[in-house]
Amino acid sequence: MARDPRYDVLFESVSIGPKTARNRFFQTAHCAGPGSERPGAQAAFRGMKAEGGWAVVFTEYCSIHPESDEYPYISARIWDEGDVRNLGHLCDVAHRHRSLAGVQLWYSGGHAPCLESRETGRSPSQFQSNMFATRTVYGQQMDEDDIKAVIDLYVEAGRRAAQAGFDLLEVSAGDDTVPIQFLEPRYNRRTDKYGGSLANRARAARSPRASRWTPCTVPRGSKRTRMDSSCSSSFARRVCSISWRSRSATTRSGARTPARRDSASPAG
Ligand SMILES: Cc1cc2nc3c(=O)[nH]c(=O)nc-3n(C[C@H](O)[C@H](O)[C@H](O)COP(=O)(O)O)c2cc1C
Repeated sequence: MARDPRYDVLFESVSIGPKTARNRFFQTAHCAGPGSERPGAQAAFRGMKAEGGWAVVFTEYCSIHPESDEYPYISARIWDEGDVRNLGHLCDVAHRHRSLAGVQLWYSGGHAPCLESRETGRSPSQFQSNMFATRTVYGQQMDEDDIKAVIDLYVEAGRRAAQAGFDLLEVSAGDDTVPIQFLEPRYNRRTDKYGGSLANRARAARSPRASRWTPCTVPRGSKRTRMDSSCSSSFARRVCSISWRSRSATTRSGARTPARRDSASPAG
């Protein structure tokens, strides 16, 4: 059956920063269960979409640090070199099918139960999370050094994402993550320069330090903000030497060896 020409645009390539998507079919971030710990399933699932024609395939929300651990819910994680290798399978398979691979960086601060990592998330203010009816979850209020440190966690996670081979980087600023916690008065009760007026509540996200979260160029005239743009980034070019807090086995050859549980085969 001939294609209605009205839909031809969907099959045209489009530039996203320095990257080119071969068509307009863009699989946004969504959870499906594999996370980073089942790299075979993760790569096979996203890879099946890439093979079927999707130009962009994303991970699910991807925790940037053990402070943002939602276990027993399964997110992707990009905490360390093991995660880099595991998520690298997704990237390799997507690229094999000429698709771009994207990752959604996620830090939910005081909403993260951290039942596995036992860490404490940081939020604009201390509050009891309203996200979990069956357990009590608290975060810790950030001081100014914490704000800088959490921004740096995003940057470091972005570098690991580049090392894994991701082409596109998205910062989750919805779903009650820390960027939206700053903006929302119900979570941001600060009385310093990061609280109160909208300008103050947006200050952390608008700081030069935070501009490194999404170091792509948002097109001139774009209504999108840096915070919510999904964009290709040039951060891969900025990757510098990273000292890993490695908790997984490493290979000196640089070969990607799955590091975790179901990792025997990237096809599994
Ligand atoms: C099962 C499921 C999991 C999802 N996981 C995420 C996620 O991890 N991150 C995110 O930003 N959105 C997530 N979403 C939202 C989707 O990516 C998408 O934005 C939403 O389904 C609306 O898309 P649509 O208008 O094409 O239906 C999820 C949606 C579903 C149904």
